[in-house]
Amino acid sequence: MTTVLDGKKTADALMTDLKNTVTTLKAQGVTPALAVILVGDDPASAIYVRNKHRRAESLGIRSLQIQLPKTTTQAELLGRIADLNADSAIDGILVQLPLPAGIDEQAVIQSISPEKDVDGFHPINVGRLWTNLPGVVASTPYGIMALLAYYQIDVSGMNAVIVGRSNIVGRPMAALLLNHDATVTMTHSRTKALAEKTRAADLLVVATGRPEMITADMVKPGAIVIDVGMDRNAAGKLVGDVDYAGVAPVAGAITPVPGGVGPMTIASLMIQTVAIAKRRVH
Ligand code: GUN
Repeated sequence: MTTVLDGKKTADALMTDLKNTVTTLKAQGVTPALAVILVGDDPASAIYVRNKHRRAESLGIRSLQIQLPKTTTQAELLGRIADLNADSAIDGILVQLPLPAGIDEQAVIQSISPEKDVDGFHPINVGRLWTNLPGVVASTPYGIMALLAYYQIDVSGMNAVIVGRSNIVGRPMAALLLNHDATVTMTHSRTKALAEKTRAADLLVVATGRPEMITADMVKPGAIVIDVGMDRNAAGKLVGDVDYAGVAPVAGAITPVPGGVGPMTIASLMIQTVAIAKRRVH
């Protein structure tokens, strides 16, 4: 029997606990606060930002939504970030990606105070992760580890194969799995004989943005399959990077799309915002 790794149920359980933590913090005079900056009017980004806002509010986290027009200059954006860096009542700062053309993404990421970089994208936090030092970790890989932990899946010694080498998912996922004693293989769009590599995986994490690219013949029977994709197929249906109908009967455990990794990503953002806020308690 295949285990469906239910991200929605897991996130809800984690958020019940987190809500209690927020209540305790507030009683100690600290209201966790998350600032989310959205530049431009990308519809997908607008939905992600709205979901973050709703989840924060439901937990009692103060949520600032800063909507800037797509004509915003890099200097203006850096100015807004500098203000938030200096505001001691703000715990986490997140700039929704992608940014409009003409704005240097790395310059923006590096302008966020590493202490408030709740995405874990600042090179200081990336370096801490790869050195296995404590720090903020990118939300999606953090959420995947939390989902595996919830289902008591220990990755130690597993052959973990990651498909996709993005800064947001693939690379930090590799570091986290390595820190948890998995044997990690990174694959990507230039990898030769991809199916041979994925078939060796005890744990397969797929984050490519290519609809249903992982088919049953690419998966070892009994493998744990984590699908980070949120894609539209040719028919316009929301699907993952994994062909769920084909792969689910082969896999030992698998995340659905939607309701798998997505809810865990937002939960992770909230957990780490609250963790940063805890530093303000004396
Ligand atoms: N765009 C897609 N995923 C993310 C994310 O995790 N953080 C930010 N800031 N932007 C994103």
